Amino acid sequence: MRLSSYLFSKSFFLLFLCSLPSVLLAEDSASSTSYRAEPTPVPPQSGIPQRVSIYEPYRGGNCHGYRAKDISETEQGVTGTLELIGSPCYAYGTDYSALYLNVTYETEDRIHVSIRDVNNTQFQFSNRHDVWDAPLYHYSSSVDKSNILYNFSFNADPFEFWITRKSDGEVLFDTRGHPLIFENQYIELTTNMVDNYNIYGLAETIHGLRLGNNLTRTFWANDEASPLDQNMYGTHPFYLEQRYKPVDSDSNSDQPTYTSSSHGVLMLTANGMDVLLRPKYLQYRMIGGIIDLYVYAGSKKPQNTITQFVGSIGFPQMQQYWSMGFHMCRWGYENISEIMQIRENMRKFNIPIETFWSDIDYMHNLRDFTVDPISYSREQMIEFFNDIESTHQHYVPIVDAAVYAANPSNRSDDTYGPYYEGVEKDIFLKNPDGSLYIGEVWPGFTVFPDFTNPKVQDYWKAGIHNMSYAFGSNSSDYIPFSGLWLDMNEPSSFCVGSCGSELVNLNPVHAPFKLPGEPGYLALNYPAGFNLTNATEYASASSASLSQYYATATSSMQVVYPTAVPLGVQPKFDINHPPYAINTEQGNHDLANHGVSPNATHHDGTLRYNLFNIYGYGEIKVTHKALSDLQPGVRPFILSRSTFLGSGVYSAHWLGDNHSNWPNMFFSISGMMVFNMLGVPMVGADVCGFQDDTDEELCARWMAMGAFSPYYRNHNQLGSIHQEPYLWASVAEASRRAMHIRYSLLPYWYTLFRQASYDGSTLIRPLFFEFPDEPLLAGADRQFMVGDSLLVTPVLEPNTTTVNGVFPGSEDVVWYDWYNHTSIEHKPYENKTMDAPLEHINVAIRGNKIIPMQVPGYTTHETRQNPFNLLVALDKQGNAYGNLYADDGVSITPNATLWVDFAAKSNKLSSVSFGTYEVDVPLANVTILGVSSSPKQVHFNDDNISSYTYSESTQELVLSNLDKFTSTGAFASNWTISW
Ligand code: GLC
Repeated sequence: MRLSSYLFSKSFFLLFLCSLPSVLLAEDSASSTSYRAEPTPVPPQSGIPQRVSIYEPYRGGNCHGYRAKDISETEQGVTGTLELIGSPCYAYGTDYSALYLNVTYETEDRIHVSIRDVNNTQFQFSNRHDVWDAPLYHYSSSVDKSNILYNFSFNADPFEFWITRKSDGEVLFDTRGHPLIFENQYIELTTNMVDNYNIYGLAETIHGLRLGNNLTRTFWANDEASPLDQNMYGTHPFYLEQRYKPVDSDSNSDQPTYTSSSHGVLMLTANGMDVLLRPKYLQYRMIGGIIDLYVYAGSKKPQNTITQFVGSIGFPQMQQYWSMGFHMCRWGYENISEIMQIRENMRKFNIPIETFWSDIDYMHNLRDFTVDPISYSREQMIEFFNDIESTHQHYVPIVDAAVYAANPSNRSDDTYGPYYEGVEKDIFLKNPDGSLYIGEVWPGFTVFPDFTNPKVQDYWKAGIHNMSYAFGSNSSDYIPFSGLWLDMNEPSSFCVGSCGSELVNLNPVHAPFKLPGEPGYLALNYPAGFNLTNATEYASASSASLSQYYATATSSMQVVYPTAVPLGVQPKFDINHPPYAINTEQGNHDLANHGVSPNATHHDGTLRYNLFNIYGYGEIKVTHKALSDLQPGVRPFILSRSTFLGSGVYSAHWLGDNHSNWPNMFFSISGMMVFNMLGVPMVGADVCGFQDDTDEELCARWMAMGAFSPYYRNHNQLGSIHQEPYLWASVAEASRRAMHIRYSLLPYWYTLFRQASYDGSTLIRPLFFEFPDEPLLAGADRQFMVGDSLLVTPVLEPNTTTVNGVFPGSEDVVWYDWYNHTSIEHKPYENKTMDAPLEHINVAIRGNKIIPMQVPGYTTHETRQNPFNLLVALDKQGNAYGNLYADDGVSITPNATLWVDFAAKSNKLSSVSFGTYEVDVPLANVTILGVSSSPKQVHFNDDNISSYTYSESTQELVLSNLDKFTSTGAFASNWTISW
C-alpha cells in the first residue's frame, strides 16, 4: 500500500484528531447529519503511551528456561514437571518456579502440548468451555499410538522439545536453543523455522498471502480500518506451513521438480500476544494464560492440513442459499424510501440485487434495538419487507455490540429499555470496583453486554425480537429481517477505559472525532487513481496535509513514557499496562485505547484481559442462538466484523473498513483466502471500497472480482460518493456480466459451501492448494481459484486493458477460457498477458472438471426455478469429474438432500444421484470442451440427441433441448450421455 493511503487511513485520522486541542473539536462539532439527537462534544483521550516491547532492548536474555523432571510417557502422551533453572529472570513478569507439562496424542494427526503453572494460578482458556467449545476438546482417548503420524521428542536440561512427522522426518515444531519463559504476564515459546519458510494465516491482518519472515503479528482485537500488517478485528492464531523439496530427477527438463508437504500450528489463547516471524525462528510472546499448542501433522496437500485444523475448531455452517446473491449496502441511506429507490434502479438497469442492508441510519439516535420513528418507521419497514419478500429479496440490518447508556438526568432516555433491562438483569461488563463499565460508541456513552453471562441470552434475544422500540413490549414491535450484521464487536470504544463513568449525564455525546460528512471531517477524498491522473494536485494536497499533521502532532502530543524497569528487577503486575507491551496498533499502544479495557470484568470476575479476543465470537454465538430460537430450524445468517477461531461455525465475515483504492482490492484476495483456511468461507470485502470515494474504473473492476467472492457486498461510508453499480455505464455492464456468471454458477458455489461445511474445503483457494509442488506459486495472490475448477485473474491496477497471470500445472493441465471455450496455450511458470477490457474479468476452467450450472435469473430464487446446464471440461485423456449438492437452501437439518456425481470418460458422461431431495427443473444443455472430433451420434441413455452442435475450431460439443429427456427433473434418475 502507498504511504499516502496509509497515512490517511483511519489510524492516521484518529491519531491526528486525538492530537487536536479539544476546543477545536468543540467548536463545530454539532452534527450536520440527521442521525443524531443533539450530541454533546467530549474531548478525545489518548491513553498512557507504552514502549512497544519489540522495539525496545530484549529483556529475556538472562532467562535459562526450565529443566524437565519426572517425565513419563504413556500410550496417550507425555507428562512431567518443569523446574525453573536458576533464579527468576523477570523478563516481563514474575517467573513460575514449577510447571506441568502435558503432551497428548489427541488424534492420529494432532498433538497437544500443554504447559501450565503447577498451582493453576494462570488463567486457563482451555478450561472455559462455557466460552469456547470446539471439537478439539472432544477427542477419543483411545488413539492407537502406532498410528499417530508424529513423534514428540525432548531434551530434559534445559527442557526443549521437537515434533516431527514420522513419514518424512520433517521437523514441524522445534524449540531447541530457545529457553522457555513462563511468567505471570509473559510467556515466550519459540520454534526454529526452515529457511525462507512459507506460512499463511495468523489472521487478521492486511498482508499478502505469504507472511514472509520479517513481520510481527499482534493478536489484540482492534477496530481499525485496513492498517497494513497490524492487528485488526479478528484473532486466529493458526498458521499453515508449506514446504518444498527438490526431487532428483533424471529427466532433461530444465525446470527442477519438487515435492511438498504442509502442516499446521495453533496456539490456543484469547490473551494478547505478539508472534514474531523472523528469518530463523517464530516466537510466541503471550501476555497471559498458559501454553496450549496444537500441531497438525498435515499431509502432502495443504487442503488436508486445513481439514485437520478446521475439523478441530468446527466446520462452518451451511449458509442460506439467498446469501450467495448480490448485497447492496451503504452507511448513509437516509430513509427507507432511498433503499426502495435503489431497488427500482437496480431493476431498471437489470443488475441483480438479492439483499438490502441497513447501516446504523435506521436506528433511533443510533441506539441498538430501536428504529427511527420518521425515516425508518416500523410501519414503513414492515411494508418494505413484505414487498421485497414478494420478490424473494432480503433485508439485513446492523446491530452494534454496545448499548447506549441512558442519561439518568434526561427523562426522554427513561424509556430506553435495552439499557434499563440490561442493568436490571446485571448483564453488562463492569469496572473492577463493580460499577458499570461505560465506554463510547456511535450513540454516545455505552455499556457492553457480557456475552459470557448466561443471562445475556434472553436479553439479547428480546432486543432482536423487539427491534422497533425497546424491551418489555410485545412481539408486535417485531421488525422483520433475513439476517443480522454484527458490528463494532471487538468491541470498539472510542475512548480510553470507562470514560463515561463520570460523564454519563452528558449523554448523548458525540464521538470524539468528526463523522464522515460532517464539517471538518478530515479525509483525502480523492477518487482512487487520482494520484496517477492528477499527480501534481495530489502531491501538493497530500504534502500540505502531511505537514499539517506533523506540525500538530509534534506540538501537541506529549509523549511521556513510563520509566523502564531495570533488567533483573521484578516488573509490577499491571493489567492495563502489562510489562510486555504488545505492538497493538492503536494510538500510544495503550491496551485500553479504542476498545474495552483489559481490566473490564465479566460476571464471574474473569478479566477481559484473559478473554480479550473472544468478545465478538461470544456475541456471534448468542446471536446465533437467538436467531435459531426465533426461527427454529432455519440457518441463521450472521455477518460479523470481529471473529475468533471457529467463528465460521456460526457466521460470515467481511474484511472490514477498507479504502476505495487498488491496494485494498488486491489485499482482499489474500484476506478471502486466509479466512477460507480458517473455516470462515463466507467472506468478502466491501466491494468498490468503503472509505474515501471510489471511481468508475476501480468500481467496475471490483464489482467484477466481487462476483467471484463467496460473500458479495458493495458497501460504502457515510459522506463518500454513491457507488451503486448502475451509476456508471461501465460499472453497470461489468456487474451485469460478472453477475451473469455468478448466478449461473450458484449450484457450483452451493456445492462448494456444502463441501466446506463437511470437511473445511476452501472456496477461494490459493493456487498452491491445487498445485502444491510448484514453489513459485507459494506467494501467488493476484489470482485465485474458486473451488478446484475455476481460475480467476482480476485486474488489480488502473489504466490498463491487459492482465498477467499464470496457468499452473504442467503442459498436461488443460485450461479453457470461460468465454470462448478455447483451450489456453501455456507453459509451466509462464506469465501470460491476457486482454482485459474494463468490463471483462478473465476466468479459466480447469480441464478434468465438471461444473453444474443453472440459467441465471434476477434473484437466487428465480435462478433455482430455471433449468440446469453442465459444463464438462475434458482433460487431455478425455476425462472430467464433478458433483452437485442440493437441498432446500434454508434448513439446518434438511429433510432431504441430493448429491450427484458426474463423471466423463471414454466419450461418456454419467450422472448418478444419491439422496431424496427433488430438483424438479430439467437439464437444458450440456457443453463438453475438448472433444477432438465431431461425433457421429449423440445419445441420452438409448435415445438419440438430435440437437447438438460441434465446433471444430474450439473442439466444443454443445447438446441442447435435453429437457425433453429430463422433464421430471435434471437428476431425478441416473443417466448417461454418449458421443
Ligand atoms: C463501522 C463498520 C462499517 C459501518 C460503520 C457504521 O465502521 O465497519 O461497516 O458502516 O461502522 O456503522
